Formats: sequence, structure tokens, C-alpha cells
Amino acid sequence: MCGIIGVVGGGPAVPILLGGLRRLEYRGYDSAGLALAGDGALLIRRSVGKVAALADKVAGDPSDGPVGRWSSGIAHTRWATHGAPTEANAHPHFDRSGRIAVVHNGIIENYRALRARLESSGHVFASETDTEVLARLIGDRHHGDLKSAVIGALREVEGAYGIAVLCADDPSRLIVARKGSPLCVGVAEGRVLVASDPAALVAHTRQVIHLDDGDVAVLTADSVEVSGLDLRPRHRSPDELPAEAAVAERDGHEHFMHKEMHEQPESVRNALRGRVDLVNGDSVLAGLGRGEDGEDAAVRRAILLGCGTSLHACMVGKFAFEELAQLPAEAEQAAEFRYRNPLVGPDDLVIAVSQSGETADTLAAVKEARNRGARVRGLVNVVGSAIARQTGRGVYLHVGPEVSVASTKAFTGQVSVLLLMALRLGRARRLSRERGREIAMEIDRIPSMIERVLELESAAIRAAERMVESEHAFFLGRGPMHPVALEGALKLKEISYVHAEGYHAAELKHGPIALLTEGTPVVVIANRSPVRDKTLSNAEECRARGAGIISLVTEGQESVPGAWGELRIPDCDPLVATVPAAVALQLLAYHVARLRGCPIDQPRNLAKSVTVE
Ligand code: G6P
Repeated sequence: MCGIIGVVGGGPAVPILLGGLRRLEYRGYDSAGLALAGDGALLIRRSVGKVAALADKVAGDPSDGPVGRWSSGIAHTRWATHGAPTEANAHPHFDRSGRIAVVHNGIIENYRALRARLESSGHVFASETDTEVLARLIGDRHHGDLKSAVIGALREVEGAYGIAVLCADDPSRLIVARKGSPLCVGVAEGRVLVASDPAALVAHTRQVIHLDDGDVAVLTADSVEVSGLDLRPRHRSPDELPAEAAVAERDGHEHFMHKEMHEQPESVRNALRGRVDLVNGDSVLAGLGRGEDGEDAAVRRAILLGCGTSLHACMVGKFAFEELAQLPAEAEQAAEFRYRNPLVGPDDLVIAVSQSGETADTLAAVKEARNRGARVRGLVNVVGSAIARQTGRGVYLHVGPEVSVASTKAFTGQVSVLLLMALRLGRARRLSRERGREIAMEIDRIPSMIERVLELESAAIRAAERMVESEHAFFLGRGPMHPVALEGALKLKEISYVHAEGYHAAELKHGPIALLTEGTPVVVIANRSPVRDKTLSNAEECRARGAGIISLVTEGQESVPGAWGELRIPDCDPLVATVPAAVALQLLAYHVARLRGCPIDQPRNLAKSVTVE
């Protein structure tokens, strides 16, 4: 989603800003811009499209002019929310005088009312954005003290923000602030930086201050002063960024998505490391508290919250919690949770599942659950992220940085760890040691099963070749494979732009079957399971209407008759099989998208981390 990078001090700002924006590209955006300050003036460049277009524009500026010399600047990649992705809507935005520039992540929710008020007092807006409202509010309050002006404006706005503000009158300082949208400050030799994602800082420093909600900071080349909106100083000291924050490279793979799919044996191994107790048929998840206060046994219900791919992991988790722990469980879209007055209390275990740990809807749901007294735990990949900090207790995924917008290794890690959580809760309740050991052994085999599935790439390519011309596709599954079908369809639509829908296999005949025509691809997950025969009947119903079946079956099983293509996964427990099955569908989606020539790592309109509600 939108990205911010800013710098003050230590030499020319332009290479730092453009380099930072490139590091943020993976998050998804549709326009970019920067502002530089020096010699009592501001210089602004903005462009629609990729950072390369902005760089071309900046390269056209004379190098002995401001662009080459000034050392203070702010820059932004914008993912359009208010107003189309045009140059006028690209950040930075300005106040009425044109001397104050603002970049902003998040959404100002009361911007309409504020805009109307400003317009009635003579402001003429240059963009359709909510950010320009903020810039103009700051400008109207600016009488020499920029920090006070920023705080005054922030007191008026409702919503979420991570902002950086630069003023022509004093290029030696940047004012930054956050509420609900991540922002971190990097402290380097002779220069201080700010970014919405540490990935944009690691080339310059590993010393990073994670700002908290309500923080306002004044940055100069050699100082960082943090206070609250009430002006009271807040003490913040830098943390050392973990080595894994270093920006990932593609390592010879054509796309990050391909690399990350192939990392999965190792990433899941890392997620499981030290956590599977084969002897006792249990798992060791220190962050959950290991029931030292009898908590695991006392829980009455589990509520798993997430968005997108993480929601699909939650849906698999629901099956695992109910089957292994005999614990009623729900998987819920995190955005819905907050607004439906949920009946949640101290007996509920709420697990927030998020790769980034920054998803606004999931974060808001965590706060709601905490307010209602639930036991809230995080299952998060990014260490130190907002959800990790809000939940306080939980389990880190440890699958390493995920750069591809289409999530792969986070999903397989999430499902693997949710299986471990279900096992732990099961063992704290009624699950026998014997059954626990069976499951623990199956979970322990996941990395090697993924290795086998990755060998299927040529089968996936063959199946993709049959699908590549189709504009529609269906994915069917039952039980824990229903969310895997949803995830397979999501992967395909995200990166190939094929209209793909996942359904419970029994549901197709209740309506969607009307859409099947000759040659419509239907991916049927028919692995070994107690309901396999029923799924096979559903496949027949589709084939009888001309659909082209791509089947996902278990090694050693007979093929689905008349299938266009086949993907085979190793034989294992049907719950655990969700992980290798998801990997097989990732390969399929990837190769359809590749054959269609899609920009796999930067799919249109999508963002890696969605920090607005
Ligand atoms: C975005 C991404 C998805 C991701 C979802 C939730 O929509 O494009 O890939 O699944 O956010 O993200 P999270 O970081 O909370 O898992």
C-alpha cells in the first residue's frame, strides 16, 4: 500500500528518496512523488505509474540545481483511495502557501466536512485527496512553529495517519506523526530517516525507532525528539533491526512469488522449529503461555480473525481447532468483527492472524476484542509490527520476509502453526497422547511433503496450459479443503486476472453451476478424505456440463475420470493435507499468470499490506 520515505541531513536526498521508494515498490502503488527543501524553497516532482517514471522526471532536472544539492526531502508511493491515480492526486500535497509539503498514509475520515469548511474560507483544492485537507489545515496554523501547526491540525482529524511534513522555511527539520498507520525512524551517521516500512531504511541503518500511535517526532540530522499530541515528551530508544529485515533479492527466480513458493519447505521448517513435541504428541508454543494458568483448558471458544489469505488460513484453523481441540471455533473477516457488536468475553480465545501485522481491519478487531476482555493472541510474521505489539502475547511465524503481493509462504506457515495451536489446545483438553503423536508426526512431515509438491511444477504447467485461455475458473473443495479452494481461486484472480471463484463442492449445484459452459476449468480438490466420493460426484456434475476438470488427488489414488490435468499430493492426514494442497494450487495460479504474461509481483490494484479500513 502507500509508502513513505523521508530524510534530513547527510548529503543529497534524491538518491535516498528514490532508493527508498524502490524498496517500497513491492507493497503496491499507482503513482509516486517527492518534495525537497533548501535555500528557502520547495521543489516537487510527481508522476503517475512506477518509481522509474518519477526518477526519469527528476533526472531531467539540472544536477547543479536544487535536486542535486538539497539534503532534506520526503517521498511517497500512493495507492489510490480518494481520487484516481493522477499526478494531481499524487503526494506530496501542499498548504495554501505552497511552502509546506505533506506525505500521508492512511485515511482522514472526516475530510469531507473539513474540506467544506476550508473551501468556505477560500481554499481552492488542487486534488481530490483527503491528504490535501491535512496539508491545508497545517498551513493555516503555521505561524513559525511547524510542530505546533501539525499537532493543531492532527487534533482536528479523525482516522488513520502516518505523515511526514516538510517546510521551505526550515529544511533542517521534518515533522512526522503516526496514528494507526506504521512509521519508523532510522538513525544513521549524520542523517535521520523516516519510513513506513523498515525495508526502506535497512540500506542506511539498522537502528530503528518504531513510533507508537499518538507519537509526534521532530527529526533533524542528528536528533529525534518524540512527544505526544499533548506535547509531553515520550522516551523512545532505537531497536536493532533483525537481519531478516534486509531486503530480499529474487536469487535467480523470475519472480519473488516463485522464489517464495520454493522457499516453503524451509520457511515452514522455520515456523515449526522447536515447536513440535513428537514424544508427548504436543506442541511447544511459548508465546501462548503453555497453559501455565490453566488457560488452555478454560477457553470456551476460539475466534480466528484475519483478512484475505490470512482469513483462509483462519478458516482451515477453525476445522483444526474443532477437530483436534474439540473447541468451538469461528473464522471471521476481521473488518466485520468490529462493527457487528460481537458477543465476546473473557472465555474466548481470539487469534489475530496477519502476515504483515499491520492490516488495519485486523488491528482494529484486536483492539475491539481486547476491550471486551477476550484473551487475544497474535499469529504474525513481521516482528515488532502493530498487531504483534497490540496483542502482547502470541506466536511469530518466522517464515522470513514475504515480498510477493500474492501471499504464499505466509499461508503455509500460518496453517502449520494453527495446526500446532490446535494440537496444544487439544492436548490441554481431551486429545489423547496417541492421537496427538500421530498429528505431531504428520505436521512434522509438512516440509518434506511441500518438497514433493514442488516437484510437480511440470504437471502444474501442463494444467495451466489447458486453463490459460479461459476467463473464468472454479475451485471446489469440502471440509478443510473448502478454504483451500477459496485460496486457490484467490491466488489465480490476484495474479492472472482470471475471474476465479472458490466454492464448497456441494454448493455449486445451488446456483453457480449455471455459469459452466463447454471448457470452463473447474479445479476439484479430491484428496483422500471421508467425503472424497461425494466430491467426485460433484466433479462428475461439472464434467457432464462440459467443464474441464483439473483434479488434485492423493498419491496412490485413482485419477478423476476424464480430467484435463492432475496434481498429486502426498498421502497424509486430511487436515494436514491442506498445506501441500495449497502449494499445488499456488503453482497452478503462478503458471497461468506467467503464461498470460501478467506482472506477477506487482498485480494491478493490489497492495501487500492494507493499512486502511
Ligand atoms: C492484502 C494482501 C493479501 C493479504 C491481506 C492480509 O490484501 O494483498 O495478500 O492476505 O492483505 O494481510 P496480512 O498482512 O494481514 O496477512
